[in-house]
Amino acid sequence: MERFVYRFIAPTLRRSGWKSVCEIGASHGETTDELLKLPLAAYTIIDPCFDEDLAEKYRADRRVTVLRMNSLDALTPPELLRPAAPFDCLLIDGDHNWYTVFNELRLIHEHGLLRPGGFIFLHDVSWPYGRRDMYYQPDTVPAEFRHPHARRAIVEGQSQLGEANGNNSHLANAVEEGGPRNGVLTAVEDFLALHAKDYRFFPVKMEFGLGVLQLRAPGARALWPFLSLRIEARTPEWVRKLGSLVKQGLKKLAAR
Ligand SMILES: C[S@@+](CC[C@H](N)C(=O)[O-])C[C@H]1O[C@@H](n2cnc3c(N)ncnc32)[C@H](O)[C@@H]1O
Repeated sequence: MERFVYRFIAPTLRRSGWKSVCEIGASHGETTDELLKLPLAAYTIIDPCFDEDLAEKYRADRRVTVLRMNSLDALTPPELLRPAAPFDCLLIDGDHNWYTVFNELRLIHEHGLLRPGGFIFLHDVSWPYGRRDMYYQPDTVPAEFRHPHARRAIVEGQSQLGEANGNNSHLANAVEEGGPRNGVLTAVEDFLALHAKDYRFFPVKMEFGLGVLQLRAPGARALWPFLSLRIEARTPEWVRKLGSLVKQGLKKLAAR
């Protein structure tokens, strides 16, 4: 998430002058800390706080409200969110499974929690969780929507999970990749199939993937902030490195 936050999300918020943000899934608050450097008026965090007591961490910041609960509980009914909603922007990086993400989007839409023209940023729309569910709390997902899962490693290019130790093997990962109702990107696509005319969608296939949904509104600026990120996503790593070396060289020359 870090690179998306520095290079794209924070600059987009700054340029747009947005004031009200909701973050679903904040962990230790690394993204939160970065975004709170902006002149925001209200910042709502929804997280069961397994990693850190975020209410304690942000006690002194009057802009921050921490809802220590699961997202679907906070969104139904959304009264707890009303003081700050509708939000200019929501970040979704919580429980990475189809059921949770599809219903987060559904509830945000049904309750009008995103301002027209505003953005929803979704992390992990590419591998490994674009097409594979992961469950922080398997019991919170109804059995009919829960795939068989195991705490075993995810192996790129392989549908079945691998060894007991390895990539994300500490998490409850769906045993198979792909198929219906599996993964974050599948959830976004299924939501969009119902609301194609209401939203624009830009998937950025870089690192673990960032999905950007924009609620359409007359005159809302849409494409330009994504162009640089899309170009960057398609640029090979060696070109990026060369570019930054050239920039550093030019800075040194200018400083002489
Ligand atoms: C990948 S971490 C988020 C990282 C964070 N966005 C960042 O940039 O540092 C996922 C977070 O989702 C939270 N989480 C898990 N299930 C959740 C749910 N049902 N609703 C909201 N948050 C959830 C976890 O407690 C964890 O803090």
